[in-house]
Order: sequence, then C-alpha cells, then structure tokens
Amino acid sequence: MKRIMLVFGTRPEAIKMCPLVNELKTRHGVETLVCVTGQHREMLRQVLDAFRVEPDYDLEVMSPGQTLFDVTEKVLAGMKKVLEAARPDVVLVHGDTTTTFASALACFYLGIPVGHVEAGLRTYNVKAPYPEEFNRQAVGIVADYNFAPTPLARDNLLREGKLPQSIWVTGNTAIDALGTTVVNDFTHPDLSWAEGSRLVILTAHRRENWGEPLHHIFRAVRRVAEEFPDVKVLYPIHLNPLVREAAREELTGCDRVRLIEPLDVVAFHNFLARSYMILTDSGGIQEEAPSLGKPVLVLRDVTERPEGVKAGTLRVIGVNEDVVYREFKALLTDEELYNRMSRAQNPYGDGLASQRIADILTKGRTSI
Ligand code: UD1
Ligand code: UDP
Repeated sequence: MKRIMLVFGTRPEAIKMCPLVNELKTRHGVETLVCVTGQHREMLRQVLDAFRVEPDYDLEVMSPGQTLFDVTEKVLAGMKKVLEAARPDVVLVHGDTTTTFASALACFYLGIPVGHVEAGLRTYNVKAPYPEEFNRQAVGIVADYNFAPTPLARDNLLREGKLPQSIWVTGNTAIDALGTTVVNDFTHPDLSWAEGSRLVILTAHRRENWGEPLHHIFRAVRRVAEEFPDVKVLYPIHLNPLVREAAREELTGCDRVRLIEPLDVVAFHNFLARSYMILTDSGGIQEEAPSLGKPVLVLRDVTERPEGVKAGTLRVIGVNEDVVYREFKALLTDEELYNRMSRAQNPYGDGLASQRIADILTKGRTSI
C-alpha cells in the first residue's frame, strides 16, 4: 500500500488539491492522507466543506495578522511531527504559499519524496509575487515529481535543469474543480442585487499590494462605479484585516459597490460565470476566467500566467489609480476590446489533471 500525503493550508491550494484528494481516494493500493496546516482557517474550511474532504491532520497554525516568520516556523515544526508519525511514501504540495515551501523543506530534511502540483510557474522576479516566486522556485529545487500545468511551465523547469523524466504536463487541477461547480440554476441574494446591471467581480489581497497600491485600486474602482449607473461591483473581501480596512476606507458609502464576506467556492465560480468582467490580483482567478470567457484586468505588474495573456483574456495593468481607472473604463465602453477579450479560451487543461497525476503516482514512473 502506497501512502500518499497531500499537504495544503490556504484557500487556493485547497481548491486545487481537493479534486486530487477525491481522485486518489478512488484508487486501489493507495492510502490517501490529508494534512492541512491551517494557514487559513475559515476560508480553508469553506473549501473542505464544499469538496467534502476531512483532514487527517490539522496543524491549526493561523493567527490574526500572521507574519511570514510565524507561518514558516509553525509549519516547519508541525510538519516534522506529522511526517515522523505518518511516514508517507510521497508528499504532494501545491503551488507557492508559505505552507508549500515550509512543508517541502520539512520533507527534504526528512528525506521524504516531494511531488509539486502546479510546478514551473515563474516570473523570475523574486520580489513579485512576493514571497510566492521564491517559494515555488525553492520547492522546485527539492521536488522529485513536477506536475506542470502547461508546456510553458514544463519548459521553465527544463531550462532550470530539471530532469525531463521528473516532469509531466497534466493541465491545472483548477479546471477540474471548475467543471463541478458551475451550474445553470444558481441563485444568490447578491446576484439578485446586481440583476439588470453589468456585474463586475473584484478581488485583491496580494502582499505586494498592501498599503498604497490597494488604496489606488479601490479609488479607481469607486470612480468608475460612480460614473456608470449600469455597473455593480461585488467584492468578496479576503479576511486579512489589512485588506478589509483599506477597502472599507475607500469604498464605504458607494452604492454600486458591495463589500461581502468571502464566498464559498461553488458560489464564487457561479458569480464569475455570470459576471461581465473581473478585476483581480489573484493567481487562481487568472486560470479560471479564460475558460469562462471573462475578461480580466490583472492588478499586478507581472504575471506567472502568461498563457492567459496570450489567449487574450488577461491584461496585466498594474496598480496605478489612473491606469486602473482608464483600463476599467475602456472595457466598459469599447465593445470591440470587450468582445476580443471575452472569447472563451482554455490554456490550462481539460479538467482531467487530477486523473493524470493520480495515474502517474499509482501506476509508477519509468525513470528517476
Ligand atoms: C496567502 C498566501 C498567498 C495566497 C493567499 C490566498 C503566503 C505567504 N501567502 O496569503 O500566496 O495567494 O494566501 O488567499 O503563503 N485570515 C483569516 N481567516 C482565513 C484566512 C486569512 O482571518 O481563513 C486572515 C488572518 O488574519 C491571517 C491573514 O488573513 O493572519 C493573512 O493570511 P496569510 O495566509 O498569512 O496571507 P494571505 O494574504 O492570505
Ligand atoms: N475564491 C473563492 N471565494 C471568494 C474568492 C475567491 O472561492 O470569495 C476562489 C477563486 O475561485 C480561486 C481562489 O479562490 O479559485 C483564489 O484564491 P485567492 O485569490 O485567495 O488566492 P490566489 O489564487 O491569489 O493564490
């Protein structure tokens, strides 16, 4: 019996790992173990409930306003104990969070093989996104199995000297999740509020946008919302107190912008599917939007997801207030631009990524 442990801690990791957990649980000859670090608490629970995944281990590391030091040291120490007790044959981590980095490091110290799901994304600017670019490059150094979502991600890994036999292009498990969530008959009170208007979804939480950049973004959104009576903006705010404070400061009292609590993943995907466009600094949403055919203005200076830019759905616009204002307004007024960006494209796979990863792990590998 092969013991495979999946470790994750934040909302986006959970959304992309739960489909794999559920796929592995259907396989014979595998014992599937789930360890959550609890880097997120409520936002993680929303996803576990949606996919009906119950963790075997929970490190419960989250504290309000946690620093990178807090998360790194608690995850490293907590994973040591879990790994020593469970002794998995392989540990799967996802993407680029501090949970991912510290868990992979713990495995490396204990000599346990690591599989990296969503491997090979790069900006090659270690400060953007921060600290995620460092995290994923560091995991790349120790990973034995690299599950690259796209050929471009594979090429990054090859250029860095990873062995070709250690890399598989699988598609992104984000698309697996999306295949199960969007339904025709979805209703929600906040969707009713936006009925008859063009619904814009806003999300922003990135560490490098804390402070002035968030204020720039919110001021630009407010200016546009106040100018366009047929636009309604819904912003499910991340639970980080710093982000919530900035949003409240800039957006309170604006009738056409509604600040709401984080949505569960089923609701959020259905909101995206019914939106006119999206403004975000999120990583995962950049993968989901192209397959839904929703134009995205990416509130960052760089992206590690150039496939969506190439497909025409994403525009990376940065965080300057006047630029965000101008680009947002352009998508509301320039029909040709809107139509060009809203053609459904899907560079991130066919929804079978979890199956492929499970096959590779259970049917054995031929090399490395
Ligand atoms: C983390 C990841 C980031 C990922 C993001 C997804 C790192 C360094 N950052 O950033 O890569 O894009 O998650 O959302 O790994 N909080 C709650 N409840 C929750 C979740 C968060 O109250 O369920 C609050 C807490 O006060 C917490 C704070 O948010 O201290 C920040 O959480 P943290 O995980 O440190 O950073 P994120 O910005 O969420
Ligand atoms: N998401 C969600 N509820 C929300 C906002 C986002 O379920 O209220 C989902 C979204 O569909 C995507 C993921 O959360 O799959 C993105 O998470 P986040 O923006 O927190 O992190 P990132 O992708 O930037 O790492």
